[in-house]
Amino acid sequence: RFFAGDPPLFRGKRVLVTAGPTRERLDPVRYFSNYSSGKMGYAIAEAAARFGASVTLVSGPTALPSPDGVETVAVESAEEMYEAVLSRFAETDIVIKAAAVADYRPKYVAASKIKKQPGGYVVEMERTVDILKALGERKTGQILVGFAAETDNLEQYALKKLEEKRLDMVVANNVTEEGAGFAGDTNIVTIFRRDGVVRPLPLMTKREAAEEILKEIHAYIEAIR
Ligand code: CTP
Ligand code: CA
Repeated sequence: RFFAGDPPLFRGKRVLVTAGPTRERLDPVRYFSNYSSGKMGYAIAEAAARFGASVTLVSGPTALPSPDGVETVAVESAEEMYEAVLSRFAETDIVIKAAAVADYRPKYVAASKIKKQPGGYVVEMERTVDILKALGERKTGQILVGFAAETDNLEQYALKKLEEKRLDMVVANNVTEEGAGFAGDTNIVTIFRRDGVVRPLPLMTKREAAEEILKEIHAYIEAIR
């Protein structure tokens, strides 16, 4: 799985990547979710392994195979992802949170299938835990990288997430741009580093973007140490 030309930038590093959507159950046959395909996170996990890291991928439900050389942990809900990530955090050097975690879940989960009735139906939702924010509050030297999927005010929202979640880096993309976002094989991202470096990347494949993001993390670690 190593190829000539893959730099061993992350040899000896333990990298935890999250990917995909989460599913928030309403009843035994229904859930709330989002359009995340998992492609960006899987590409990062795969590239981190090629760059020599020991990689754990905590993934919500996707159609993708586990990348070569990566330990993949399947989860469903935000709560399960939180537990899977928190339990591994102490033994992790770098966390890259590409997952599209649901912000809300149904407040009540029905034990049996909800039957239709005449008229409308209102679901009461409650907030899920912000996994990345919880990591920011607990970090003891780990590098934290978040994603920001936005439709407007990209820089402003990305920098707000960098601050509020105590991140080292935010990878922001405008999901409304042609060639960017959840479903496709390409992305257009801008990287914002805690030390003020901003790097806008052109349209590229998610595999190429994954390599650029990892190289930027490596450069950042070199710059701050
Ligand atoms: N994230 C998380 N736990 C959540 C929600 C988000 O860990 N419950 C992480 C995502 O994995 C991503 C980052 O936080 O790395 C930003 O996610 P995003 O949805 O863009 O931002 P939010 O903070 O949820 O804010 P909003 O959706 O209101 O823009
Ligand atoms: Ca969100």
